[in-house]
Amino acid sequence: MPVIHHISAMRTALQSYRGQQRIALVATMGNLHEGHLELVTLAKQHADIVIVSIFVNPTQFGEGEDFDSYPRTLDSDVAKLTTVNADYVFAPSIDEMYPVLPPPTTVLAGSIAKQLCGQSRPGHFDGVGTVVSKLFNIIQPDLAVFGQKDYQQLAIIKQLVRDLSYQIEIIGAPIVRADDGLALSSRNQYLTNTERQIAPVLHQELQRLAQQLATGKLSQQRIEASLVETHLRLTDAGFRVDYLEIKTDQLDSIIDAKDFDIADKRLIILVAAWLGRARLLDNEFFTINESF
Ligand code: PAF
Repeated sequence: MPVIHHISAMRTALQSYRGQQRIALVATMGNLHEGHLELVTLAKQHADIVIVSIFVNPTQFGEGEDFDSYPRTLDSDVAKLTTVNADYVFAPSIDEMYPVLPPPTTVLAGSIAKQLCGQSRPGHFDGVGTVVSKLFNIIQPDLAVFGQKDYQQLAIIKQLVRDLSYQIEIIGAPIVRADDGLALSSRNQYLTNTERQIAPVLHQELQRLAQQLATGKLSQQRIEASLVETHLRLTDAGFRVDYLEIKTDQLDSIIDAKDFDIADKRLIILVAAWLGRARLLDNEFFTINESF
């Protein structure tokens, strides 16, 4: 499978397909796992040609974050992508992507980027928006697939496509989990063996909370009490909770909604929690029967 490092070569390679075949982009930072391969498989179902970008994007890492230590495993990534029939890998250098770093022209992801992960990672989603926007301009795909584990990222990319008028269909792919329920993530490899045993508790607690809230009349008080309880249970298990929140699927707050009728609406519980060196993300959808 061709591995292309330069923007001009990538554009040339794609020229003959344009207008004839559907092109899909799967954007990654490499260190690929089964979850990424599922994104490619899904992309293949919707497109003829799938380009996987592999680029550890410096502009989305904050100071003191794991940019330097983020695993770079291009050869094994390419081998894995061959097994799912990806067509091209686009693996540019930092200089190729950012002739000037930090880039003077960037995307601002707006208020949706200030909540949840944005609270502890200021500027992160501006960096994601900037690099995704560049990848969209380079590849000019008909569609792009992103994982729902990074639900806020997916919402921001949909907003980006709408606001900057990209003609690109965005497909959200279901979370891929290990047998014990842990959502797959490149950062799971930061877990020690002991932490890896504890890690599935994160998803178990989300499921428990979802079940608890799905039945009976939902009040603001009940939501808050359940969130406090789950927070405590996670802390007891060894997690340091960054956030644990319940939102509508548009990421609007339901606590502020008060008399907003959320019965039969899809709600999402979102969590970020540290376990040792790993910051784990997860989310769980649920529907409630009776609201406020
Ligand atoms: O989800 C990721 O791996 C990254 O945020 C992305 C979308 C590849 C942008 O660098």
